[in-house]
Amino acid sequence: MARRGTGLLSAGGVGGSVAAFAGGAVVALIASRLLPPLFAQAAGSVSGRDPFAALADDHRHIMALLTEMEQTPQNATFRRTQLLLRLKRRLAAHALAEEDVVYPLLHDRAHEEGDTRRLYGEHADMKMHLSALERMPKDDPDWLGRVTELKMLIAEHIHQEEAVDFPKLRDALGRRAIARLSGNVRREKALLL
Ligand SMILES: [Fe+2]
Ligand SMILES: [Fe+2]
Repeated sequence: MARRGTGLLSAGGVGGSVAAFAGGAVVALIASRLLPPLFAQAAGSVSGRDPFAALADDHRHIMALLTEMEQTPQNATFRRTQLLLRLKRRLAAHALAEEDVVYPLLHDRAHEEGDTRRLYGEHADMKMHLSALERMPKDDPDWLGRVTELKMLIAEHIHQEEAVDFPKLRDALGRRAIARLSGNVRREKALLL
């Protein structure tokens, strides 16, 4: 007896509704990935929120997460995993914005080639620390030490950005370029947050 197809590509029946659902899910996924950046770009160009203040807010948030991680007891493995995931997401969105829109301007407009390479390199170091923290058992006696190392690296990196490189970039950019940067930072972060 011939069986009616129920695969994803069959028309009608269970297969059809699954296909329709899958199609809807794909559309929703694409919309969720594309629309926030578009809205963010529009909002950024209208509100013109200072991009350097927004990046400094991220810094405070990231440092607060690291402090929370440092305060966890050795047996709080679930909490450590949660905090690490939150840190990874925040740091990834922040780093994406800096690497894709801020650092290229620091290189091309503020002509800080050496500082730019150093900052990119420090982001790479942070990612290696994060990867090590993910791979380690969360009750490993060395876990907290690795968190503290990452925190010190990030604290120094943040200081370099806020005290040296962001002010140089601000001075190198005009008002319109800063407004454009604000929209671009929001758009990049919205890709991941
Ligand atoms: Fe950075
Ligand atoms: Fe930063």
